Amino acid sequence: MEYVKLYSELLAAEIGGLLTCNEIERLIEKPKFLHQGDMAFPCFQLAKTMRKPPAAIAKDLSSRLQHQINGSFNRFEAAGGYINAFLNKANVVKELLNEILQKKNRYGDLDLGESQAVTIDLSSPNIAKPFSMGHLRSTVIGNSLSLIYEKCGYRTVKINHLGDWGTQFGKLITAYKLWGTEEKVKAEPIQELLALYIKFHEAAESQPQLEQEGRDWFRRLENGNTEALELWKWFKDESLKEFKKIYDLMGMEFDSYAGEAFYNDKMEPTVEMLREKGLLEDSDGAQVVNLDEYELPPCLIKKSDGATLYATRDLAAARYRFEEYSFVKSLYVVGNEQSLHFKQIKSVLAKMDFPWADGIIHVPFGMMLKDGKKMSTRKGKVVLLENVLQDSIKLAEKNIEDKNPSLANKTDIAVMVGTGAVVFHDLKNFRMNDIEFSLEDMLKVEGETGPYVQYTNARAQSLLRKGAFEAGSGEVNLAADREWAVLTELQAFPDTIKRAIEKNDPSQIAKYVLNLSQAFNKYYGEVKILEDDAEKNARLQLVHSVSIVLEEGLRLLGIKAPKEM
Ligand code: ARG
Repeated sequence: MEYVKLYSELLAAEIGGLLTCNEIERLIEKPKFLHQGDMAFPCFQLAKTMRKPPAAIAKDLSSRLQHQINGSFNRFEAAGGYINAFLNKANVVKELLNEILQKKNRYGDLDLGESQAVTIDLSSPNIAKPFSMGHLRSTVIGNSLSLIYEKCGYRTVKINHLGDWGTQFGKLITAYKLWGTEEKVKAEPIQELLALYIKFHEAAESQPQLEQEGRDWFRRLENGNTEALELWKWFKDESLKEFKKIYDLMGMEFDSYAGEAFYNDKMEPTVEMLREKGLLEDSDGAQVVNLDEYELPPCLIKKSDGATLYATRDLAAARYRFEEYSFVKSLYVVGNEQSLHFKQIKSVLAKMDFPWADGIIHVPFGMMLKDGKKMSTRKGKVVLLENVLQDSIKLAEKNIEDKNPSLANKTDIAVMVGTGAVVFHDLKNFRMNDIEFSLEDMLKVEGETGPYVQYTNARAQSLLRKGAFEAGSGEVNLAADREWAVLTELQAFPDTIKRAIEKNDPSQIAKYVLNLSQAFNKYYGEVKILEDDAEKNARLQLVHSVSIVLEEGLRLLGIKAPKEM
């Protein structure tokens, strides 16, 4: 169902090798006005090679194309230097809707991946620290990417690379033993652990021996001391319980929670290999890999006291992931501020001659802002991300109470709408853009929001109920003039998915569902869909197709689509 391709094939056959099909495809434009047809081919490039005026070429080619008028094409018209192609709408609509209704949510599936593995490093919050906006963005973008890759035939492995190791745990254990209580940590784990950590730093200013105690406890933790390990594990479990509330609200799961600590016993072979390959250099007692040829600062592998670093863990993790999952691509959905780190990791792996280093891809993103400022603390107090989701859900609940109080399953639907609003707000902009956070904007039912798209789908579903529509009933017979804008959108879905995967960019899909919603709502405003005439059933088939594609588009963003709201 790719008419651009079809049109370029017809043209290629007529111009005898002057341009390839792909070149023609890239030249074909969408005309500005409906009366100019569905696709326009500009003859200006041909004019140069053929040394003939573009209008003459257009005239000649369009008459030669006349014998191609068939099921798909109605006519070809020369207009200035362009050849406008007009599709046979009644046939096109039949083909397209039959395809969607038959494939259902598999419409738009692309077989690019051939079941090969893609690992996705996403979310990856730090234990005993608040789940930040950055981690929420990583979770939302990474989750959507994993759904998009699966739609394209890849097998994905979602890895939550928890920040669960480091000298800070020695300090935390020290602080807990001095001032902490089990009840407090259990009641509000993240807030209490953070408070203990802050208190440690304040106290250490007047009692410097605390720093030494912190180091001692970390040393014990490294050496497997039972008390230290138990506390660390408990902090981790309590933190994870909190993080999981967020994942549950978003309805998502991970394939692996192997965090930084998981690589404790897996770094030495990598350091050894670097040494054998002669890549380690001494720099004031520290071990580094020189990256001058990549115009990057050296990558620090071991500190002078022998301690390993964030990068050392990521190198070990990359190798582990390749051996475990043999990925063809390995995505890291991590904020823009870590770009240098991932360039270094990729370059070190390339220097180690791992061919798969090519598949390492950092997928960066911008910041979430509140009133133009980075959003992580508010008046010194932590904004808990779970509260952001809860607030959004509450507001959604209130909207339902105001507008549709008799709705069944109000609570479930409020969760779908409230979290959907936050997720959509994140994904509708290209990920590198900074985003301004605003709950009210996110939840607006008019505007470019998740609830707007959800509402459009619920409207389609309500039409199907009212029209007593049964799937699979009857032929699609539509003149399709009034439906054309909606059909053009429906037809663009597979291409949209292709662009999204090529650019690792879910916003392609978010913008797409907005466009489809707008086209459909306009149609809804102009046409009496439920009017009892010869085309009613075909119109409902269109409505059903719209709903299939909206639900699938939302699903790829990680957003649920309630049938009523
Ligand atoms: N825990 C890190 C942070 O919050 C993100 C980890 C990203 N993943 C990785 N493999 N480095 O900054």
